[in-house]
Amino acid sequence: MKSKNFVWHPYTQMHDWKEFDVIIRGKGMWLIDSNGNKLLDGVASMWCNVWGHSKKELVNTIINQSKKLQHSSLFNLTNDQSELLAEKLVRISPGMMKVFYSDNGSTAMEIAFKMALQYWQNVGFKSKNKFVSLKNGYHGDTFGAMSVGYVPLFFSNYKKNLFPVIKTPIPNKFRLPKGVSLKEFQNFCLEKIEKVFAKDEQVAAFVMESGAQVAGGAIIYPVGFQKKISKLCKKHNVLFILDEVATGFGRLGSFIEYKAQDSFPDIVSYGKMLTGGYLPLAATLTTKKIYDAFIGHYREMKHFFHGHTFTGNPIAASVALTNLKLYEKNKLITKIQKKENQFKQRIAEISELDHVGDVRHKGMLMGIELVNNKRKKRPIDPVKAVYKKIFVEGKKHHIYLRTLGHIVMLVPPLAIKEKELDFLINGTIKTIKNVSKEL
Ligand SMILES: Cc1ncc(COP(=O)(O)O)c(C=O)c1O
Repeated sequence: MKSKNFVWHPYTQMHDWKEFDVIIRGKGMWLIDSNGNKLLDGVASMWCNVWGHSKKELVNTIINQSKKLQHSSLFNLTNDQSELLAEKLVRISPGMMKVFYSDNGSTAMEIAFKMALQYWQNVGFKSKNKFVSLKNGYHGDTFGAMSVGYVPLFFSNYKKNLFPVIKTPIPNKFRLPKGVSLKEFQNFCLEKIEKVFAKDEQVAAFVMESGAQVAGGAIIYPVGFQKKISKLCKKHNVLFILDEVATGFGRLGSFIEYKAQDSFPDIVSYGKMLTGGYLPLAATLTTKKIYDAFIGHYREMKHFFHGHTFTGNPIAASVALTNLKLYEKNKLITKIQKKENQFKQRIAEISELDHVGDVRHKGMLMGIELVNNKRKKRPIDPVKAVYKKIFVEGKKHHIYLRTLGHIVMLVPPLAIKEKELDFLINGTIKTIKNVSKEL
């Protein structure tokens, strides 16, 4: 089968892409196209796949649940699967008490923002309505998410319609000001945040990705950064919203990343790997303090004004439950903690390659930043469409890569085997070497 060219693809210059390989099957770590070619899924089908494709237990759960109840809404009713999953999520998420479902990471974040704004309205702090977030953060593609996670390269066309958000700097060890250590710059970033909080009583919430900025290019926070922000939020009566859409459930080597970071969110969002990457489902969790502020008499209009058609879909919830059981049964997090060494051992070799400016890694995430000039650290110009060159060259080595601008991302399914991970890293090295000749 050939692509029929009716589909408009995401983040894609369609003029330059006349043909797409048609994936018709997935087996384990491999995607198989209509010509029988196999590609190793090097980006876990956009960072969500955990066990590989066609995992028997997950497929069977979908089949069994779809025979019983395909969809029934959470408006006025509930369903057993979303109830069971919410209980499970609350049990594994320290400090959390209630779960609000949606179907993707962007909406999970919109829900977090709306909850925070309405919380302050409900408790009588009517003027608390501003957000503060980290520069270079990403929270999705809807309007609230674009405002809070503003990425200039992606979102400048919509800027006039976005709401203002106060941005504070991040400690990125590869791009520190001259003569400043990471520790010093981290302190500077924290001081900036504290200054904003101290000066502006209208700040409703601080928002950041938990553990690392993934779409921002695998920027891993220094130890203690997130914990200190969490403390500053408490000190200044600012809600702390964490986005674990990309970093929760083991991507960085911990099941619940905010727990590993010793931080205490008021609201946290999950998505992507929650269903093992099989069905769209996201969840926004919150504490008793936040939830209680939404309880009141009808005339007070305190209840939460949000909901989607597929909020709490039982098939998605059931597959998430099976997925979470598999984590425990297979001791997946312990295995990831061992496997991350395989990435670590290759960092020096990758760093030596032409055009590689920096290699950042944690858990099952690696970002390889390509630059024009190693000393000047200038990123490769976006007009060179590195993302396409890397994809085309990667295919020659039987790997599927989706690059973020000039940053090559390795984000494999978490359960990838040692041999397959070697195949992915070796293929990536060959890919960068060959693409490098054209840059
Ligand atoms: C940290 C983070 N938040 C939110 C999102 C948005 O999720 P979705 O693409 O499911 O809307 C993403 C997507 O990559 C993400 O990385």
